[in-house]
Amino acid sequence: MPLQVRDLVVRIRGLGKVVVDGVNLEVGKGEIVALMGPNGSGKSSLAYTIMGHPRYEVVSGDIVVDGESIVGLSPEERSLKGLFLGFQNPVEVEGVKLSNLIIASYNKRIGERDLLKTSNPRIIVEINKYASILGLRRELLYRDVNVGFSGGERKRSEMLQALILNPRYVILDEPDSGLDVDGVKVIANAIETLRSRNTGVLLITHYTRILRYVKPSRVYVMVNGRIVEKGGYELAEKIDREGYSVYQ
Ligand SMILES: Nc1ncnc2c1ncn2[C@@H]1O[C@H](COP(=O)(O)OP(=O)(O)OP(=O)(O)O)[C@@H](O)[C@H]1O
Ligand SMILES: [Mg+2]
Repeated sequence: MPLQVRDLVVRIRGLGKVVVDGVNLEVGKGEIVALMGPNGSGKSSLAYTIMGHPRYEVVSGDIVVDGESIVGLSPEERSLKGLFLGFQNPVEVEGVKLSNLIIASYNKRIGERDLLKTSNPRIIVEINKYASILGLRRELLYRDVNVGFSGGERKRSEMLQALILNPRYVILDEPDSGLDVDGVKVIANAIETLRSRNTGVLLITHYTRILRYVKPSRVYVMVNGRIVEKGGYELAEKIDREGYSVYQ
């Protein structure tokens, strides 16, 4: 059973501005689906809405995870249902070490009451293993979340959290932005690791470069809050050549 967005209309709470305007989209388990679109088309708004950000008000339509509507749930509840969002612009969280954030979210997920408990040796081994695979220096694990992290380090840190939490569905909002060439390959490998564990991946991106490595099964194009085209990987290549002007 997939993650489904059905006829979704969303506006910014208090402003009335409609940012998602009748979107239908589906991500199956073990599937990589790409979402592309020009700046300001509503991609991040859709991602935030799926995750339950209070600024985004669902006017109509539904968001369904494995057959169950999640529209009434808090972000925490959605997270416990197995949703994860990797932010386009990850925020700094002063006073919280990255390793503690990951350990606490992992413990919460497995129902452990002592959130900082580290007696399960698997968690520490896994954090170190994936940090090393992602090229994230060990020192960063003991710094406050994202504080003073470079752009590429932030993206790697988001991906580390996704790999440890092992979500059912992961939404990655431009995980490849600001990354060097090696970084894109590392992130693409991590996405493939998630997919091979049967996680469904919604990958928001501006670049076909990452899609060449991960080969999505579907590509959606969003313009002005609407899905204007849906196709295979070749659609991403067409956009790379021709841009979005045909849709506007
Ligand atoms: N909290 C908010 N308050 C006011 N306007 C908002 C808010 N969130 C989004 N918007 C507006 O909604 C539109 C869609 O923004 P969104 O961030 O979803 O676009 P995007 O497709 O992710 O763009 P990009 O590719 O640049 O990341 C933009 O015009 C943006 O200014
Ligand atoms: Mg965005």
